[in-house]
Amino acid sequence: MLKPNQKSKSSKKSQVEKMFDSISFEYDLLNGIMTFNSHKRWKKNILNIAKKLKPKNALDIATGTADIAINLGAISNCKVIGVDISEQMLNVGREKITKMKLGKSVRLESGDAENLNFKDNYFDLVTIGFGVRNFQDLEQGLRESFRVLNKEGTLIILETSIPENIIMKLFYSIFTRTYIPVVASIFSKDKSAYNYLLNSAEFFPSGSRFSDILKSVGYANILIKPKLFGSSTIYVCKKK
Ligand SMILES: C[S@@+](CC[C@H](N)C(=O)[O-])C[C@H]1O[C@@H](n2cnc3c(N)ncnc32)[C@H](O)[C@@H]1O
Repeated sequence: MLKPNQKSKSSKKSQVEKMFDSISFEYDLLNGIMTFNSHKRWKKNILNIAKKLKPKNALDIATGTADIAINLGAISNCKVIGVDISEQMLNVGREKITKMKLGKSVRLESGDAENLNFKDNYFDLVTIGFGVRNFQDLEQGLRESFRVLNKEGTLIILETSIPENIIMKLFYSIFTRTYIPVVASIFSKDKSAYNYLLNSAEFFPSGSRFSDILKSVGYANILIKPKLFGSSTIYVCKKK
């Protein structure tokens, strides 16, 4: 399994797609073990922010196995669409939606964040959970979210980040270099995929650096909400 690498012959996008296809079966289990299930709490935080906005239609980009899309399905009178480039991740999500009988409010389809198949100004809410750092062209992905959002629409992003506090940063670094590779080697057949996820988290811009990128794309009223000592962050912003 290749780890996504810009210098490789195939694009980062097709490598990311293959990588998530290959880990789709164990993704939910490993996500729970690696974050001590905190990811579920952060995704509920997104739902709580979203509920107050009373969206009528929402798009969850890089939906993967659809946790966030499924949560948003609980908002009354809200139609939710989840898109992802990995068909295998979507298939796991579709099974969950069928089991939970949420098919009327939540639909999953194949789609690329950087070239969305939706008209301008369509969604009241766009969410992206642990997806942006995998985009081949980050700004293009954020521009596409901006395009499909209504005027006054809201974008909520959940992404890994590096703690700013020096002690927490050291702890985070030891934790990610020891615990996560051990868990990946026990539970996953594709260890290199988890090395990629760790490396990409280390180099991805977070906090005010990410907020500057959001601003440059046109987003306003940006809120930065660090979670678990800053190891992940929720960003909330508006299309103005
Ligand atoms: C770490 S998973 C996150 C899944 C889910 N949102 C969650 O929070 O658990 C990242 C997902 O982003 C998807 N992805 C990466 N690049 C994408 C793109 N350009 N367009 C759509 N999905 C993409 C991957 O296929 C993968 O399912």
